[in-house]
Amino acid sequence: MSASKKEYKRITVKTLSEMKAAGEKIAMLTAYDFTMAKMVDAANVDIILVGDSASNVIAGHETTLPITLDQMIYHASAVVRGTQRALVVVDLPFGSYQSDSKEALRSAIRIMKESGAHTIKLEGGTENAESLKRILGAGIPVMGHLGLTPQSIYQFGTYTVRAKEQQEAEKLKSDALFLQEQGCFALVLEKVPASLAKTVADALHIPVIGIGAGSGVDGQVLVLHDMLGMTTEFSPRFLRRYLNLDEQIGGAITQYVADVKAIAFPSKDEQY
Ligand code: KIV
Repeated sequence: MSASKKEYKRITVKTLSEMKAAGEKIAMLTAYDFTMAKMVDAANVDIILVGDSASNVIAGHETTLPITLDQMIYHASAVVRGTQRALVVVDLPFGSYQSDSKEALRSAIRIMKESGAHTIKLEGGTENAESLKRILGAGIPVMGHLGLTPQSIYQFGTYTVRAKEQQEAEKLKSDALFLQEQGCFALVLEKVPASLAKTVADALHIPVIGIGAGSGVDGQVLVLHDMLGMTTEFSPRFLRRYLNLDEQIGGAITQYVADVKAIAFPSKDEQY
């Protein structure tokens, strides 16, 4: 197979497992719409997460809690249409899986059927045992999410680093092993000490993707709007901004307004 053909081969959960075994780092980013997903996919990002962070960066809510299953499916189907290579993972939103395992399975099936996504992600460890069994038993691949789990923000009370104390670190390690044993294909670790994240990644055979979890894990994920500098109010230490799009987009729009007011747009060449 030629190198260029290999680039367009769809990433699967098996590919990710092989990448971990080979020591190849996994790049993951969020996307919520067709146009951005196309760009992210063309840049060879391995996993596109349709995160419930859409609740923050797209809908402007303070937390991830308000976004609904229907809204996640809408975002996910647009992302799937923009993607040729990446594995598409979709968050089960708050309230769509916590009440009982049958509802959790129904929610996961709706995402897979109605959006065409490849896998789902859900937050938490042993408390999801029954739901995991049902969802995985239906053949739906699941990515876990431990550490700072934003759907539990009102229980934590703050977005600070998790599992700094030994008791919480031990619980996180046993939850991570539990998720692997249940059959999850990968795990996100959010905002935990780098040494703990490395210990977990070294102990597991499934890939561990970090956000604010240091470089000792198997891959990294960031929220697209944060790393492109479209959001400005959120500046945690782990966030590297690769662009300053807030300023650039704002500048372009300001120029457009000035051009319209001054009748500098459209020009003769821009009309019929
Ligand atoms: O919703 C999201 O964007 C996420 C990432 C921060 C991992 O869960």
